[in-house]
Amino acid sequence: MNIGNKVVYQIYPKSFKDSNHDGLGDIRGIIEKLDYLQFLGVDYIWITPIFKSPQNDNGYDVENYYEIDPLFGTMADLEDLIEEAGKRNIHIMLDMVFNHTSTEHEWFKRALAGEKEYQECYLFMEGKEGGPPNNWISKFKGSAWRYVEDMDQFYLHLFHETQADLNWKNEKVRQEAANVVRFWMNKGVKGFRFDVINLIDKEAFSDDPDGEGKKFYTDRPLVNEYLRGLNEESFGQADDIITVGELSSTTIENCIRYTKPENKELSMVFSFHHLKVDYDVQNPWRIRAFDFQKLKHIITDWQTALQEAGSWNALFWCCHDQPRVLSRYGNDKEYPVRSAKMLATALYLLRGTPYIYQGEEIGMTNAYFDKLEQYRDIAAVNCYQCMMEQGYDEEARIRYLQGRSRDNARTPMQWSDETYAGFSDTEPWISLTENYDRINVKRSMEDPDSVLHYYRELIQLRKEYEVIQDGRYIPVMEEHEAVFAYKRILDDQELLVFWYLTISTKSGPLCRLIRRNMIY
Ligand code: NOJ
Repeated sequence: MNIGNKVVYQIYPKSFKDSNHDGLGDIRGIIEKLDYLQFLGVDYIWITPIFKSPQNDNGYDVENYYEIDPLFGTMADLEDLIEEAGKRNIHIMLDMVFNHTSTEHEWFKRALAGEKEYQECYLFMEGKEGGPPNNWISKFKGSAWRYVEDMDQFYLHLFHETQADLNWKNEKVRQEAANVVRFWMNKGVKGFRFDVINLIDKEAFSDDPDGEGKKFYTDRPLVNEYLRGLNEESFGQADDIITVGELSSTTIENCIRYTKPENKELSMVFSFHHLKVDYDVQNPWRIRAFDFQKLKHIITDWQTALQEAGSWNALFWCCHDQPRVLSRYGNDKEYPVRSAKMLATALYLLRGTPYIYQGEEIGMTNAYFDKLEQYRDIAAVNCYQCMMEQGYDEEARIRYLQGRSRDNARTPMQWSDETYAGFSDTEPWISLTENYDRINVKRSMEDPDSVLHYYRELIQLRKEYEVIQDGRYIPVMEEHEAVFAYKRILDDQELLVFWYLTISTKSGPLCRLIRRNMIY
């Protein structure tokens, strides 16, 4: 398979298209929009979890990996989607959440009911000095441990307390993960994304002097062994499957290990360093102006290191966990179209597989909700509470959510300027971004200079030119303060991508940039 000419489109199904008038997107809604995706030219659609789930973390809390959540439809709907997409040469990529299950999962319920076999599938531990086993912090705030009175033990949850971490040391867990992947492969699924997969090995359970715990559970050596096993037992048995691992707080060296073809682990991985240049990672409440030089260096470091190692990159600006890039590294008020085109050009002509997130291709912006009640994400609500406890005032709390909340990317897809943006005919589960009357698919289709047509052309260019698929990456003018430029070279083909920026005086949560981009 030539991975270099493939493009993936990410769908957050709850917010893509509602077909059954309940204000929530669903699988039939995706089917309705397949012609649009074919027009755009994408090869895969990655759908975030649609499995049965209490939806405490929008599907990343899976109750049953073999069933479709009725919110999204039925198994028959998914089978139709696979078939209908296939007719348009589009494959389906599903999201495998294997670091944790929902506490509603049958295994966890049997664990709570006292069955040792199932207790061993999770990470239950005794407390220490009347408190949790250690000082690790959940990524959604607060302790990463929850006490179970009947057992007089705590279980680990690196995310929400209803997302219990699995014990990958237990072979039963590893085998079940492979069973799940094989089940979906048999249905015709051709791609898998593995959620926070570099966290599955928890080595030691000591207190962390840094007070977080990350170093005890991130990129531990057994992750590689577990991935090799999963590859061997499932997707590695077919030669037409692509995989992408989502990695939390990783390093280049680890990414290379996960993606070196001879290691037989994953096709590629998502790392997030390039999306951490506009806030203080140590103190995330502090949003900063976007650091252009840092971004350039990160891109070059990752491109060159993975290229030297023969590893492959996943290229993305947006996803359901990130505020919209146009509102972060672009100017979504004065130069929305230019900024969006510039950002797409800079990233999607690099060496790797582009992942376009729904709405990015029409220039969707942050939602900028100004009331707490509009936020749906559990992480946003927890952050708000935390900031309140730390004494931040209401204005600061809302400003933070407007800049950083994941809900910014989760508002309904803007299909038209009709009521509810053509997403639904009833009030959606989350408010719309107000600019849908101007920024929508219908209008973008009609305007030949729109961001949408530009994305389509970029995708076609990738399919047409081998230099975009396979060319070497060579940075150009590396130290220039206003230029990010690179060449891609393959035999006698050469491509120069040039991004020029001028920074006006303002800084703050949204940096003000004027950019032009050119392709030669
Ligand atoms: C990463 C997913 O992308 C995110 O949405 C989720 O909250 C966490 N993993 C936990 O599963």
